Amino acid sequence: MTHRRAAVLGLVLLSAACSVTTEKKPAPKPVADPAPKPLVQISGVAELEDTNPDPNIVEVNLAAAPADVELVPGHMTHMLSFNGSTPGPMLHARVGNRIIVHFTNNLAEPTTIHWHGLRITPEMDGNPMVVPPIMPGETFTYDFVAPDAGTFWYHPHLDTIEQIPRGLYAPIVIEEKEKDAPVFTAERMHVLTDVRLTAAYQHDKFRTPMDMMMGRFGDRILANGSTQPITGTIARGAIERWRIVNTSPARSMDVAVEGGSFRVIGTDGGLLPEPYTATRVSIAVGQRFDFEVSADDPNATDVKLVGHFPTQDANGNVKDLAMPLADYAVDGDVTAEPPVYPVVTLPEIPASFQEQKLVLSDMQDAKGNLVMTMNGMDGRDLPMAMFTQGVPVRFTIKNAMMHAHPFHFHGQFFQILTRQGKPANEPGLKDVVFVDGNETVTIETSFENPGEWMYHCHIAEHAEQGMMAELHVDPQ
Ligand code: C2O
Ligand code: CU
Repeated sequence: MTHRRAAVLGLVLLSAACSVTTEKKPAPKPVADPAPKPLVQISGVAELEDTNPDPNIVEVNLAAAPADVELVPGHMTHMLSFNGSTPGPMLHARVGNRIIVHFTNNLAEPTTIHWHGLRITPEMDGNPMVVPPIMPGETFTYDFVAPDAGTFWYHPHLDTIEQIPRGLYAPIVIEEKEKDAPVFTAERMHVLTDVRLTAAYQHDKFRTPMDMMMGRFGDRILANGSTQPITGTIARGAIERWRIVNTSPARSMDVAVEGGSFRVIGTDGGLLPEPYTATRVSIAVGQRFDFEVSADDPNATDVKLVGHFPTQDANGNVKDLAMPLADYAVDGDVTAEPPVYPVVTLPEIPASFQEQKLVLSDMQDAKGNLVMTMNGMDGRDLPMAMFTQGVPVRFTIKNAMMHAHPFHFHGQFFQILTRQGKPANEPGLKDVVFVDGNETVTIETSFENPGEWMYHCHIAEHAEQGMMAELHVDPQ
């Protein structure tokens, strides 16, 4: 009986998959109002349900609430969740869509939602300095238009030291315009983070002296909310789009693909003008990468996303620990057309720009407390930096500490120009730049999005100890 059911289900799935890929037929004569193509299927995480029949509006219900979740097989962990899960359900729309999120705070504490990477308006950005926090039991409607295609994520912007690691993080996919969207055999989401759990599988203490210094490092890696690798099947010959989000509190995720080949096709700000190859990609906290993965190894039985983690052995030597984060079993064959990428041009780097210096450091305040500083001051005391929309600015970010800072700007993209004075060779638009200990990095942005914005280290402990400030962009 169960076999028969499985067969029927298999058929249904198959025909559903077909209807997605058979749209290549000669186009019917244009009609007045062609129905927009449905969004692609992205496996790996659940999606927020669009309750609005208008194809240009994605309207969803989102609630933050405590939940017991199985991160480690066989053990429940008290977490915070979006709609009962962690990572929360994916917000999925097309560029230009209006997005309406009816958010309810069912937590015991205030919160806000920040749409990390979406260049929307300050009023919708989740900055608690601009819009008051949403109190327990209260609702707030976020309403904005998705300005850019790419892979993004959402998370609270209040008590981020605890709210994000406790489970409040979720991916966002904004698809390219229909005529621009490259077609893949399949698309997959990989949300990566880490957690530190006690022997009873509950969150370990927050704000330990070590955490306050280094940021919170977990002892377990989670891929799509589980310590087990993401599983599934992949057809030999497939060309897929893998989206990867690093939502971890402090850990860079170094990843590679095994059992196939891959190219980097997208970064924080969407598709690149030119895909590039790499053997390994380091994803800083908050960053996203899109890979084009080809299941082109004739002998591979699995195509894997593998994380590489520096670990210390018993003798204190640092070793590379390789760990599968996703393991897709090769099953069946397919002949895939190479995807056609749209023409993407990055903003040109101007010959001259306004220069801005940002020194990241630390000090002790009068009471002996550790303060993380921006240009020698607690970021909260820093006068608001003023910029003009469209005027190019080069930031020289000098990290005077030995600890790394994944530094994030709200509402803007930038390009990374140099590291230690040498060309950075990290193409694409970013909203987070990794600044290693004692490193100097330059970035360039034209502040295309006016308003009041936060800029801060994405290690929450650092931000809350002073490495967080606001800037203002005057409309032109
Ligand atoms: Cu992802 Cu200010 O944050
Ligand atoms: Cu930092």
